[in-house]
Amino acid sequence: MTEPNTADLMEKIVSLCKRRGFIFQSSEIYGGLNGFWDYGPLGVELIKNIRDSWWNDMVRSRDDVVGLESSIIMHPKVWEASGHVGGFTDPMVDCKVSKQRFRADQIFYSPVVIDGHTAGYVSVLESERIAEELQEKADQFKRKKALQGKLEPVQPRDFTEAKPEEIPLIPSPATGEPGSLTPPRAFNMMFETHVGALRDESAIAYLRPETAQGMFADFKAILDTGRVKIPFGIAQIGKSFRNEITPRNFIFRSREFEQMEMEYFISDQDDWAKWHRYWIDWCRNWLVSVGVPASHLSEYDHPKEKLAFYSKGTTDIMFRYPFGVQELWGIAARGDYDLSQHARFSGAPLVYFDDATKRRYVPHVIEPAVGVDRIALAILCSAYCEDKAPDEKGNLETRVVLRLAPRIAPIKAAVFPLLKNKPELVKKAKEVRDLLRPHLTVFYDEAGAIGRRYRRQDEAGTPFGVTVDFDTLGEKGAELKDTVTLRDRDSMKQERVKIGELVGMLLEKTR
Ligand code: GAP
Repeated sequence: MTEPNTADLMEKIVSLCKRRGFIFQSSEIYGGLNGFWDYGPLGVELIKNIRDSWWNDMVRSRDDVVGLESSIIMHPKVWEASGHVGGFTDPMVDCKVSKQRFRADQIFYSPVVIDGHTAGYVSVLESERIAEELQEKADQFKRKKALQGKLEPVQPRDFTEAKPEEIPLIPSPATGEPGSLTPPRAFNMMFETHVGALRDESAIAYLRPETAQGMFADFKAILDTGRVKIPFGIAQIGKSFRNEITPRNFIFRSREFEQMEMEYFISDQDDWAKWHRYWIDWCRNWLVSVGVPASHLSEYDHPKEKLAFYSKGTTDIMFRYPFGVQELWGIAARGDYDLSQHARFSGAPLVYFDDATKRRYVPHVIEPAVGVDRIALAILCSAYCEDKAPDEKGNLETRVVLRLAPRIAPIKAAVFPLLKNKPELVKKAKEVRDLLRPHLTVFYDEAGAIGRRYRRQDEAGTPFGVTVDFDTLGEKGAELKDTVTLRDRDSMKQERVKIGELVGMLLEKTR
């Protein structure tokens, strides 16, 4: 088994996703829309399985977490209280020549210092090799300008740190020439819309940039149902929208995406660090259960000085994507900030009354927040591999296989008649398909040589292939009658299984 090199891997995954119907560019026939993606027939099953697994493990299997589906458009005051109207911004930079727009914290630059004097500046976009790329550009700069003297090592900084006098001297990453970059400006990432017939200020509303605020705004309503006692959580899965300046890396950073968030409310006197650790471990274990290898995961603790004033600690679970180690899941200890803010802005008392101690207090919250699309990408990147398998003539050929965890695979089993032109085989295979269909997602395929059909399902990540052959019909003896071959996607091994045992066996293997 080989893993393609990381530069190729993203290209191969994007191409496979398109070819096999996992993910398409949105509105592609109109040239696409940057930052928006559509999930095709296999993709929609994949993300449904991700959502269902999370919901099952996070909500249905626990006594202390309840579910919620709040509206996407909420009262605009929600976003004032949460701080999004005032502060949900990214620093944006325009290149006046190329008309391209960048996030200032994704442009890195350095002075080119020769014998202690600054001879100019070089810049690159964020990557895994920022310092090396800047050094290469500094070398080129020196050579091109035929400068003499000792070139000092580069000092990478991001564009938000640029002094006003440096800005005109830093080359645009689009043109390579200085003089065209604007100073960074704060850009609010919320999508605005209008509610009702009027288009004035009073009608402005926002597409939610996170699902979390639904849980805080409905905290009192859920408390009043009497179903919950601290510690407890409210979980939600739903679409969020951010007008990202630079959507990129396929579905990693999009403008419309889906979040799975849970707000876990604890006593103000409880040990928040213990709960924080508990949820970090829960999230890591859950990722492994859906097929993300533990070896690709790491943790990043946000430095204390970069945390919001109310935050006690934030840890990101990082995943090794082909384009670098990036945030997959954020677990934040947010204190009582959100409930207190909503109480202040709405006038509603968002407090908890502890029956045992007769104490009233504002609960604190631990928030694990993740994107479905980021998990889907992590799963696809982990699952993609190429190995060798024999073709019809026994020659080894490259096989592309998605080693998806069976619980996440879009199709659990594919059913094949060995030959299409034998009505008895076709009839029996369709009977087997109909037997499995009420229990599992199955796919029936009779087109082409059996080896080709196996390959197509390997690429789709289908963990099991069920083939109906002449033995199934009893042509080689009564003992094999009503048995099929069950092929394992990863090992390609085949075993003979009784049709009567197939449902139980496959349910067991794909749960
Ligand atoms: N309520 C907290 C919150 O929304 P966040 O770190 O901004 O925190 C949480 O987002 C998670 O949502 C991220 O860890 C990531 O998995 C996902 N996410 C955020 N922005 C995204 C985007 N533009 N595209 C895809 N996923 C995104």
